[in-house]
Amino acid sequence: MEKNIIVLVSGGGTNLQALIDAEKNGEIIGGKITCVISSNPNAYALERAKNNGISTRVIPRREYADSKSYSMAVLDALDEEKADLIVLAGFMTILDECITSKYAYKIINVHPALIPSFCGEGFYGLKVHEKALEYGVKVSGATIHFVNEKADAGAIILQGVVDVKKDDTPEVLQKRIMENVEWKLLPKAVSLFCQDRIEIVGGKAYVTE
Ligand code: GAR
Repeated sequence: MEKNIIVLVSGGGTNLQALIDAEKNGEIIGGKITCVISSNPNAYALERAKNNGISTRVIPRREYADSKSYSMAVLDALDEEKADLIVLAGFMTILDECITSKYAYKIINVHPALIPSFCGEGFYGLKVHEKALEYGVKVSGATIHFVNEKADAGAIILQGVVDVKKDDTPEVLQKRIMENVEWKLLPKAVSLFCQDRIEIVGGKAYVTE
């Protein structure tokens, strides 16, 4: 049976677009994007979903007092949508344990750095690239990983690297990482998951043939 993929977004949604394009090209084997949920009513990602006939839900983060009450609302939506896989594609809210425990090893996130560098609470979007440039690292990249109860600490599925150049701005580095790593590896990891080709051994993730 094809898996129901629910994508959670907060912003521009270029990673969502990469997933939509991959699905159209037959590159997501065994799964289908059935719903997009946004924490931000104005996210352009919602337009991308609508333009492609994908149903959308908005659960505004600012209407909830804390992460727990917000996560309970998202959990209800995920259950209603019969989620088999949840993809955080530029989703800027940390999910509470009520979701991460129920959907253990069923939530995939894309983080724009090489975990365990430049990750955890407060490291999101352009801030990640600002910190990497400030540190002076010579390579950076992105990590596709499972989500557990600690921010950016779940099992790593795939990572890819790019060079950091002397004159890079956070925006330039972000674009290089998105184009060369995120937009390729996120659809790849989603397809591997939908084919049951990610094995967990001792809390670590391995891709099987
Ligand atoms: C992406 O670079 C993604 O890796 C990052 O935000 C951007 C969202 O772009 N996510 C995080 O920082 C999560 N901690 P998009 O909305 O165009 O996909």
